[in-house]
Amino acid sequence: MTIFLGAKDIHGDAVELNVDDNIDTQIDASGLTVLPGLIDPHVHFRTPGQEYKEDWRTASMACVCGGYTTVFDMPNNTPACITAERLADKKAIIDSQLSDADIPLNYGLYIGADKLSFSEIPIVKGDVVGMKIFMGSSTGDLLMDDDESLHQAFELAAKLDMLIAIHAEDECMIQERTELFKADTEFSTHSKIRSPEVAAKAVEKAISLSEKYGTRLYLLHTSTKLELELVAKAKAKGLPVYAEVCPHHLFLNETAYATLKGRAQMNPPLRSEEQRLYLFDAINNGLVDTIGSDHAPHTIAEKDSAYRQAPSGVPGIETTLSLLLNAYNDKLLTLDQIQSLTSGHAREMFHLPKSTDSVLVDLNLTKTVVGKNLKTKCAWSPYEGMSLTGWPVYTLLNNRVFDLEKIRG
Ligand code: DOR
Ligand code: ZN
Repeated sequence: MTIFLGAKDIHGDAVELNVDDNIDTQIDASGLTVLPGLIDPHVHFRTPGQEYKEDWRTASMACVCGGYTTVFDMPNNTPACITAERLADKKAIIDSQLSDADIPLNYGLYIGADKLSFSEIPIVKGDVVGMKIFMGSSTGDLLMDDDESLHQAFELAAKLDMLIAIHAEDECMIQERTELFKADTEFSTHSKIRSPEVAAKAVEKAISLSEKYGTRLYLLHTSTKLELELVAKAKAKGLPVYAEVCPHHLFLNETAYATLKGRAQMNPPLRSEEQRLYLFDAINNGLVDTIGSDHAPHTIAEKDSAYRQAPSGVPGIETTLSLLLNAYNDKLLTLDQIQSLTSGHAREMFHLPKSTDSVLVDLNLTKTVVGKNLKTKCAWSPYEGMSLTGWPVYTLLNNRVFDLEKIRG
């Protein structure tokens, strides 16, 4: 047994922490704070088909280093995960990669909703955490932009009591605005094309479908005041609508294009400073349910291409907790909020069983983000060079202890 001595919970009360791991040792954890192992309801780990960007050997190590013990992976793979057969294949590859890595990561998978494969959804219902819909195009070829299919999907999900996780950006507006800005070559054009109104229009439609059919709706990566005002109204009506925000929208704004160029491009895009600050208000007003990293790795070479060639998405799983703890140190968030947003609410929304997985954090440890030292295969970070105070130092996952200072080297 590994016994941690002297650890405290987020309220400063002593915590007894033992790991039943056949190792007879004691670890001095005085000065460390225990949080439940983090749950990330939104990652893109690229298996199958794009393992040159990331695979579950590298991603699972990145999770452990970031304090994450459970992740839910998105279906925009190559090929897209939209059938029972592809889901089973994907699961087999993941299990083999996790076994190679010798990391017993907990994970769940979303099934992609596609109008040609609706009949697969009831078959996989018990094997997935939910159904993912892309209302606007993004990485991969999943897209559902016609009303008839959207109605069918929301009706089906409600009937099966499945949660719909939605990428809410209006495809028609994206197309129109791409045309409008077609002469622009700056990366900042990305935020103009995919404006706050583009996201809000899709969120409005998704909420109205949730209301019509009673579908449980998880709005991924909300990033604007317009969207969260719609969420506030939905919640006030008692609709089963949940909102996620992502670390890049909380900790970067559109001025980042000037230095990061393609490395600041993601969907939905970075917003104004005003919108960014509003997200903290939304958290404080109880409108935000979860923080999802939206870990979406692409290679440095891909990201350093010209605008319109560079793919959208940034890695995030190894830096999210530190960014949040740093925000705690800056008095922007409380530890209670961090705990609810990174595990408590997700456990309720996805009906997850209780777990002893934990992460011990040193709230006073200061480190600089260095992309090439990260475990994610893409080995870069949009937070490169940021000095953050508050880092995970031990991750306790399924009776295993990961000593992160040792692993990080
Ligand atoms: O920026 C993004 N990247 N947004 C998405 O919707 C998909 C993701 C990816 O898979 O690269
Ligand atoms: Zn995503």
